[in-house]
Amino acid sequence: MGLQPTLSTSEPHALRHVAIIMDGNGRWAQNRGWPRLVGHRKGAMRVKEIVRACPDLGVGWLTVYAFSTENWKRSTEEVIGLMKIFRRYIEREADGLSAEGVRMRFIGGRERLDDKLQDLMAGIEARTSGNTRLNLTVAINYGGRDEIMRAARRLADQVASGALEAPSEEDFVACLDTAGHPDPDLIIRTSGETRTSNFLPWQAAYSEYEFTPTLWPDFTPAHLAEILDRFGLRERRFGGA
Ligand code: IPE
Ligand code: IPE
Ligand code: MG
Repeated sequence: MGLQPTLSTSEPHALRHVAIIMDGNGRWAQNRGWPRLVGHRKGAMRVKEIVRACPDLGVGWLTVYAFSTENWKRSTEEVIGLMKIFRRYIEREADGLSAEGVRMRFIGGRERLDDKLQDLMAGIEARTSGNTRLNLTVAINYGGRDEIMRAARRLADQVASGALEAPSEEDFVACLDTAGHPDPDLIIRTSGETRTSNFLPWQAAYSEYEFTPTLWPDFTPAHLAEILDRFGLRERRFGGA
């Protein structure tokens, strides 16, 4: 029977996948008269804490938005600084993430990233591929429209080569960067902005949203726990009566 509701996400309290738009690093630093990069460094420390807290909070999948396809518009100094933070995060956290059972993956276009970062990304993905305690996905040079366009091209190639005849929704989903990921149940955005900024437009079709005024460098596991408690009270109907 193909029409059974998918398990777990059809129950009001089930939560597997939380995604976070980590916004407000720049304002956090500027409010203190500091350079924006100080905010990004503090933000990276928060990622560590949130990653560590997830398994105990019942979160099995965590996806975080670290750099969008639009963020290249920022100053060269900020872009280079952010890329350095990403490299350092992977280098410094590799052992800890492996030991804690975290499987780390990346979504977004990789060609535009420097070779060293690409190597680190591929390395940690391979090293942690057998881990199952927490699925951590980091979106770098990610844009939902870019992802959908790349998926559409892959699908078109499969049709042109004769590998596929009449593509289904599943065939399309298999071409997305998030192939193999469940859709996010809950998407949190920090810093008070109430927009999605090109984050997971396909995957968020039935996601719940939570917008909090807290700036990302101030966001703690306690904030996450409180949001998850509230999420448990929501009734998700998925179009049913
Ligand atoms: C989010 O913080 C991190 C990235 C987009 C890389 P911002 O840098 O956007 O912080 P604000 O929004 O300017 O405060
Ligand atoms: C969204 O934040 C991207 C990330 C958090 C990485 P932005 O700060 O780039 O989004 P806008 O420009 O306010 O929409
Ligand atoms: Mg921002």
